[in-house]
Amino acid sequence: MLSILFILLVVSISSYGYSSPYPLYACASVHLDSSSTKIGTLYFIQISAKSPVIIRGILTGLVPNQTYHGFHVHESRVDDNKPNCTAAGAHFNPFNRTHGALVSPKKQRHVGDLGNVYADHDGNARILIEDKIIQLGKGSRSIIDRTIIIHKDIDDLGMGGHSDSSTTGHAGARLGCGRIRMRPWMTLRDVLETFLS
Ligand SMILES: *[C@@H]1O[C@H](CO)[C@@H](O)[C@H](O)[C@H]1NC(C)=O
Ligand SMILES: *[C@@H]1O[C@H](CO)[C@@H](O)[C@H](O)[C@H]1NC(C)=O
Ligand SMILES: *[C@@H]1O[C@H](CO)[C@@H](O)[C@H](O)[C@H]1NC(C)=O
Repeated sequence: MLSILFILLVVSISSYGYSSPYPLYACASVHLDSSSTKIGTLYFIQISAKSPVIIRGILTGLVPNQTYHGFHVHESRVDDNKPNCTAAGAHFNPFNRTHGALVSPKKQRHVGDLGNVYADHDGNARILIEDKIIQLGKGSRSIIDRTIIIHKDIDDLGMGGHSDSSTTGHAGARLGCGRIRMRPWMTLRDVLETFLS
């Protein structure tokens, strides 16, 4: 949390006038699989090429007490007009690694492996993730125009011993997904309200 406060402090004192493309912002409107019913919006921010990406937002309407749900970036983008999370393809894995955890070393996870999110007893998942592997800028680790997916089951982080543990973490069906889109800018007030709330 402290590093997030620090990053926001840097945003608040940095001038928007430099030619650097940073800070970069993105968002994803997450809908159910095969339905346009929206379950929340996720916001992404990256302050500089070397900063982590911070993901913030709330997903609602999950089954109460399901606790953990696998959460990943998948390689292809979904079409908002034809809801279908299957169309997102496999985990975003540009370096052909095996499946791992958010905190695994970079050679032991897919770029898109973001671990699990926790759904509380009301079925709400309040998401606050900080990750240095995914990127919003250009390059092979960019998650722009790919898809964020929340799965039905817990991601075993590659350690569950199931036939699909080393590819998908045995996280089961795709509950919801959303295309990650670049946002040209956010006001400082929106940044503070989104990432500090
Ligand atoms: C969903 O996407 C998958 C993979 O692209 C495709 O095989 C399937 O036909 C699509 N389903 C619908 C209903 O469009
Ligand atoms: C990916 O790695 C696996 C072994 O982990 C290997 O069998 C496969 O050929 C590799 N695929 C590519 C496209 O390099
Ligand atoms: C979820 O768990 C809480 C606390 O254990 C319990 O009070 C509540 O009834 C449970 N809800 C469901 C839908 O199982």
